[in-house]
Amino acid sequence: MEKKIVVVGSINMDIVISAGRLPKMGETILGERVTYLPGGKGANQAVAMARLGGDVQMVGAVGNDEFGRSLLAQLKANGVGTEFVKTVDGVQTGIANIYSVEHDNCITVVPGANFAVTPDQVDGRIEQAIANADVLVTQLEIPLPMVAHVLKLAKQHGVTTILNPAPAQNLPIELLELVDYMTPNETEFEAMAGHAFSSRDQLKILMGKWQSAYNQTLLVTLGEEGCAYLEDGILKMILPPKVEVVDTTGAGDSFNGALAVGLTNSWPITDLVSFAVNVSAKAVTKFGAQEGMPFLDEL
Ligand code: RIB
Repeated sequence: MEKKIVVVGSINMDIVISAGRLPKMGETILGERVTYLPGGKGANQAVAMARLGGDVQMVGAVGNDEFGRSLLAQLKANGVGTEFVKTVDGVQTGIANIYSVEHDNCITVVPGANFAVTPDQVDGRIEQAIANADVLVTQLEIPLPMVAHVLKLAKQHGVTTILNPAPAQNLPIELLELVDYMTPNETEFEAMAGHAFSSRDQLKILMGKWQSAYNQTLLVTLGEEGCAYLEDGILKMILPPKVEVVDTTGAGDSFNGALAVGLTNSWPITDLVSFAVNVSAKAVTKFGAQEGMPFLDEL
């Protein structure tokens, strides 16, 4: 039987400004180039999964504009099912304004049509797709009521859930209890836990508290340090291979995409995390969030 994944999330056009450094407040600097690239955490994760052999349906929204049409075409070209992506009149496709400097970036997202991804979009066909899925994946670039709604449906139907809590925001306990795998990066985990950490011991304590409070598997991604998780109360770290980093945009998305594909194969946690860390290390070797998503035969 085919293993299916449903991604409920954002679809953005990434407008990437590459520059030597960030401007200071009130300052004008000259950049090197501007690039228009497909993005959005939901779409990036869906593309990552499809390239790794996942059978993926995307639930989301774009505006009735050129960006929306080209982003839909990009999803289809990558083999992502777009039947449940609606086109909304009178609102722009989501935009991410990305400042890309050497080895890092910062992003402002203007959600546009992504904020039209609301529970009333979930008709019988979408509910059926969720019920038939092995894994449901969502993030926080769409309205929270939709995130809660689809997580609840997934749990009702016994579907494994992944929440990539990005961008970070406060989440109600009722929502947290619907999550099987939580995948914050370091900054997001500090915001969730309400504490910064500066050592592995502190990280372990915070992760232990979180896991026992919400009964979920926590995978904290740490950039060049890979990913941390707890196994029988012991902190495990999976380190990535050394690579030439070109662009870190979408690194977390490739991790989540790989994690979902691994879960459809029922891999044990060490294999899941190793696979996701390796996929992520490959993804950062190319420019652009979706450009870098590796195919299985590249790994
Ligand atoms: O995770 C990277 C993504 O965040 C970018 O593609 C951008 O669209 C923002 O959503």
